[in-house]
Formats: sequence, structure tokens, C-alpha cells
Amino acid sequence: MSIHELYMSRCLQLARLAQGHAAPNPQVGALLVHGGRIIGEGWHRSCGGPHAEVECLESVALPDRSLIPSSTLYVSLEPCAHQGRTPPCADRIIAEGIRQVVIGCRDPFSLVDGRGIERMEAAGVQVTCGVLSSAAEDLIRRFRCFHLQKRPYVILKWAQTADGRVAATEGLPCRISSKATDRLVHLWRSQESAIFVGSGTALTDNPMLTCRIPGGRHPLRVVVDRACALPSHLHLFDGEAPTLVCNVKKEGVEGMVSYARIMDEPDLLPGLLHTLYQRQVQSLLVEGGVRWMESFLQAGCWDEVRLITAIHTRLPDGLPGPQFRMQGNPQRSLLSGQDRIDIFMQSESHG
Ligand SMILES: NC(=O)c1ccc[n+]([C@@H]2O[C@H](COP(=O)([O-])OP(=O)(O)OC[C@H]3O[C@@H](n4cnc5c(N)ncnc54)[C@H](OP(=O)(O)O)[C@@H]3O)[C@@H](O)[C@H]2O)c1
Repeated sequence: MSIHELYMSRCLQLARLAQGHAAPNPQVGALLVHGGRIIGEGWHRSCGGPHAEVECLESVALPDRSLIPSSTLYVSLEPCAHQGRTPPCADRIIAEGIRQVVIGCRDPFSLVDGRGIERMEAAGVQVTCGVLSSAAEDLIRRFRCFHLQKRPYVILKWAQTADGRVAATEGLPCRISSKATDRLVHLWRSQESAIFVGSGTALTDNPMLTCRIPGGRHPLRVVVDRACALPSHLHLFDGEAPTLVCNVKKEGVEGMVSYARIMDEPDLLPGLLHTLYQRQVQSLLVEGGVRWMESFLQAGCWDEVRLITAIHTRLPDGLPGPQFRMQGNPQRSLLSGQDRIDIFMQSESHG
């Protein structure tokens, strides 16, 4: 590993600290290095807050401030060049007199996309871009998907028995995954912008779709309920977390429940994704049911499948899970309690 890669890997580590908090902004980490010593570190903690570069600069101790112009700034994503909620970072870097900047990857956001680099280079800053670029791009895959594909990053997650069943006879709900996996799923929820279920699952399972781990945040709960026919006693409408009901009838807000009218088509998937994009929902954890999973799979509209298999459980008469045939092995597999979790990742150009 080169010295640039070593410092960049620390930037990526810092950026990961904001998982689930930075969206719809990207996760970014930054370091300031002087003569082999890290004099500043920062990451973008939450949307609307200071960017990683600013956090990093502000973290430099008073006696080290005079070293800033002769330091190298490492940042996992190209510094911004536009006035958003905060001023452009490229301007701040130039104003600080920094002469050397090392970047993980370019910013795919159309208002930046190379302009940050151009502005710094025009001011005489020496810029090196593309250090650990695959890892840097992977870290912001939700942000990249949102800006490049104009839809949320979609994670399909379901639990099935060893014989591929997702519910008991006639679709009656039953616990399939172990407690350890349930805790992991709550962590997953806290990392995404929204969780989705179809109307069938909302009715059969009446899920709460909240994040029940200490310090976890509730994502937006999303359901498609074509005719707004779901009963109001369901947990989705209990006000514990915001809920978005995509439907073909009405628009509006009632307490914690928002209604978004989508195009009345036989297939509501494109309308759902468009509405979520417009509402800045950067990632979506799809938690069922079978019909909706198959809709996402058939449309090729998914980025990850997290398949939980209860390896010691069989339900021969149960409801068969989504038809999912993935070429090749999962990118990652892990054991959790009595379950195996296989994670399949789609190549970025797909969907
Ligand atoms: N093991 C697990 O991980 C897990 C997780 C969740 C749910 N489940 C189980 O799955 C079962 C529920 O599955 P499900 O298939 O009945 O329910 P679902 O997928 O939640 O909802 C099905 C409904 O959604 C609509 N739908 C699906 N795709 C659509 C599309 N592309 N466009 C428009 N509408 C679409 C259909 O409406 P129309 O019929 O009106 O067309 C259908 O009635 C339950 O037994 C539940 O326990 C298991």
C-alpha cells in the first residue's frame, strides 16, 4: 500500500462513521497531513452540517494552524465547487493556501463533477485524483446510484427457510430468522433512508418497520396502497415514525402520514421510484412481500440482495419465496445465529 493509499484508507474509515446520517449528502472523510503527521481529521457527520474538509480544517490544533498551507489534504470525494447549504469547499481549500490535494474519486453530482478539481487546479493547487477510487466509489454507492440512475439505491432483503419458504401455510406470518439476525436487520434499517413493504405484507404481518436498537434512527416507512384501503389501525399509521403512502388517489399530509399520488398504471414500480427520487430518498430497504420482491427483481431494479436463510428450518407447505437466480457466488456470506446471510451485489451499470 502506498502512502497516499494509507491516508486515503483512513479517510474512508472516517467517512463510514456517518453511515445512515449523511444522506442525501454523500459520506466523506478528510485528513490533513504535515511531514508524516496527521494534524487534522474530519468527516461529514450529517446532512446540512459542515463538509468533511471543513471539519478537518477546524480540527487542527492552534499550534499547528500555521502548518496548514504546507500540508497535504486527503479527501475521499472531490471537494464541492457550488454553493449549497454550505459554501464551496474548493474555495475554502484555496483560501487556506493548501498546495496539495489527494482525492479518492470524482463527485458524480452534476453541480460538481470535475468542477471542484478544475477550480483548485486553476488556482495552482496540485491535485491527484483516483487514489483507492473503487473503494471510494463503493462507499458512496447509494449517492452514485441516486445521481446517476435517478432512483434510490435498492436493497432487497428477505428471510427464507432452507427449503425456500418465506411464510407458513397460506401466507400466515411466522418467525423465520433468528434473534441475532433481527438485531442486524434493525441496524440495516438505521443505515437506509427508507424501508418499503407492499400492501399484502402490511396487512398480513402488520410490521412496525421501526429501528429498535439503542441510538438507531427510524427510516421513512413507505408502502404502496393503490386505493388507500389499508386500515388505520396498522402499525404503519401509529405515528411512531413518518410513513409515506404511495397511491393513485390522493396527495397530502395527515400527521405523520404523507400521501403521494403516483401514476395509475398496472405496474406501480416506476411511479414509486420516481416519487422517492423526487423526495430525495437515497436508499430503500425492501422488506417484502413476495410479489413486490418479484416486481423489483423482474425489472432488474435492485442493487443488493440480502438473502437470509434459516439453515435448520423447513416449511414444506409454506409460501415459496421470490424466484431469485443469481449467476455466481454471493459477494459476501456470514453466519448470524442459526442463519446464513448471503449478500449479492448488482454491477453498477445495471437497473
Ligand atoms: N420471510 C420474509 O422475509 C417476508 C417478508 C415480508 C413478507 N413476507 C410474507 O410475504 C407474504 C406477503 O407477500 P405478498 O406478495 O402477498 O404481498 P406484497 O408483495 O407485500 O403485496 C402484494 C400486493 O402488492 C401489489 N403489487 C406487487 N407488485 C406490484 C407492482 N409492481 N405494481 C403494482 N402493484 C404491485 C399487488 O397488488 P394487486 O394484487 O392489487 O395487483 C399485490 O396485491 C406474507 O405471507 C408475508 O408474511 C415474508
